[in-house]
Amino acid sequence: MTERGGERSTGRPRRVLVTGGAGFIGSHLVASLLERGDDVTIVDDLSTGDARNIPDGALFIRDTVSGAVGRSEIGRETFDQVYHLAASVGVDLVMRDPVRAIETNIEQTAALLRFLAETGSGPVLIASSSEVYGKPTRRVFSEDDDVVYGPTTITRWSYACTKAIDEYLALGHHHAGTIACVVVRLFNTVGPGQVGRYGMVLPRFVEAALRGEPLRVFGDGTQTRCFCDVRDVVRALPRLLETPACLGRVFNLGSDRPISILELAEMVRRVLGSSSEVVLVPYSEAYPEGYEDLRHRRPDLARVREAIRFEPLIGLEQTIRDIADAIGRGGRVTAAERAEM
Ligand SMILES: NC(=O)c1ccc[n+]([C@@H]2O[C@H](COP(=O)([O-])OP(=O)(O)OC[C@H]3O[C@@H](n4cnc5c(N)ncnc54)[C@H](O)[C@@H]3O)[C@@H](O)[C@H]2O)c1
Repeated sequence: MTERGGERSTGRPRRVLVTGGAGFIGSHLVASLLERGDDVTIVDDLSTGDARNIPDGALFIRDTVSGAVGRSEIGRETFDQVYHLAASVGVDLVMRDPVRAIETNIEQTAALLRFLAETGSGPVLIASSSEVYGKPTRRVFSEDDDVVYGPTTITRWSYACTKAIDEYLALGHHHAGTIACVVVRLFNTVGPGQVGRYGMVLPRFVEAALRGEPLRVFGDGTQTRCFCDVRDVVRALPRLLETPACLGRVFNLGSDRPISILELAEMVRRVLGSSSEVVLVPYSEAYPEGYEDLRHRRPDLARVREAIRFEPLIGLEQTIRDIADAIGRGGRVTAAERAEM
């Protein structure tokens, strides 16, 4: 049985469901939950995840979320805590296959929330995205800011809209009293085990630097982002879900230290001792169908600092070294790297 704050009142291990648990962030989260003794079930269709990411000790159901909630392994069981990370992640995937990405992000979340409401499970943490802020109206993004999107003819905004709908759905359930939820807007999250093939900038740079190939910087490279190590992020997720005062609320989570993409490329070259050159690639070449980039993206972390005393601890240079080491082992992340939390 579960209380809204996620505290267990029985002696058995906490039953936890992690959707997207074979993915980058999900696999780090699963490792930390297993480490503290939770009984973890993963649902992942491996569309971008990798079964080799899954730490020993979790029950793995290879299926979509909507498929899995009808299966006997999950049945009508109640989960004490749920982390919903399964999604078509990032603007790049949406640009490549918008219909699939939009349907995935909205349908899977709706199906999961219906299942959790029916079984009396929860609370649930919804992994949302800084993309929800859309076109920045300010330099620093705060949770209660208005959001502004471009026209529907520009595909990139559909990712933001899907994540916004997910937030509305979860908060709707919360206010109706059917499931307790917390919404977490993740900013750029990086670390060992992340792969570059879905467009994520840092693993792309590290992979290129290790191969001695050019580091391709889109635009003029002066756009800035804040990168947070996945181990800092994963440390914070259970605390957000287990702090009763956080339920029903939206939190930014990430680092608030900006770096330009050109500086990031130079840092990767320096840290890895690579002789790769850095080349600027016009957006029109990277995205022939049109793209609108955000110049700066930085979270206001006041709310999450106040709620759980969150502070990112792992420096970007360390993260770069750990990504490179994991790539050197064919993408495998060691227990020591996961445990750095
Ligand atoms: N990495 C970041 O910087 C970042 C930033 C903002 C938000 N997020 C959010 O965090 C979550 C995890 O992202 P990630 O970086 O680990 O990406 P990821 O692609 O590694 O993980 C997503 C996982 O979901 C799985 N999945 C996709 N569709 C599914 C479906 N229909 N049913 C079951 N499983 C499905 C994939 O196979 C994958 O394992 C996502 O919700 C994403 O939107 C990530």
